[in-house]
Amino acid sequence: MTDKIKIALTKGRLEKQTAVLLKKAGFDTASLSDKGRRLIIPLSDDIDIVLAKAPDVVTYVEHGVCDIGIAGRDMLLEHQGRYYEIADIGLGKCRFALAGKKGADFFGKHGVKTVATKYPVVAKTYFDKKRVDVDIVRIEGSVELAPLLGLADAIVDIVETGATLYENGLEIYEDIIPVSARVIANTASLKLKKRTIEDFVSRLEKAALDND
Ligand code: PRP
Repeated sequence: MTDKIKIALTKGRLEKQTAVLLKKAGFDTASLSDKGRRLIIPLSDDIDIVLAKAPDVVTYVEHGVCDIGIAGRDMLLEHQGRYYEIADIGLGKCRFALAGKKGADFFGKHGVKTVATKYPVVAKTYFDKKRVDVDIVRIEGSVELAPLLGLADAIVDIVETGATLYENGLEIYEDIIPVSARVIANTASLKLKKRTIEDFVSRLEKAALDND
């Protein structure tokens, strides 16, 4: 008999990309496609998928109510916790970057600079390392608005294609760190349900390799 595991999966874009990968890995994903408003969906006899917001994926895995979780590295860097990062499944590839109005000399500007972001922890870590003094303003979405409206000198945000920056007259000043989806595991689950977790992750990793 194998152990039953619960997988916390980040709702939205990553959920859809992961569903494609699960199908490629040989899982029957019909129940995921027809989930309606259900939040816990059986994937197989021994696997349940739990759909959650990214920061909650971390919380459920840390507390051991889900054995493993799938979330973007952006969220994992922002919401650090006690878990093992066990695989990079290569989905949702993008990067963190410092960006702002085209042609503005961000680092040359005197005095404390204002930076808008949805990721204050990532931004603070980055500027601390560079020993640059900034005021960080938290914005919930469409962070690109902040420099356009004059609230901030720059933003720290995710860049995927670069289209949002380009179409709003902004440019990258510096790349910060690459991002992709990661599998995280509860530390106890990793010992107690080692085989089931390893089997699942290796199937996913194999399918991800075929994706490249
Ligand atoms: C993300 C990010 C950028 C955009 C970058 O926003 O915050 O705004 O995608 O993508 P691009 O480089 O391909 O243009 P998201 O769509 O997640 O919405 P949000 O800004 O409301 O968080």
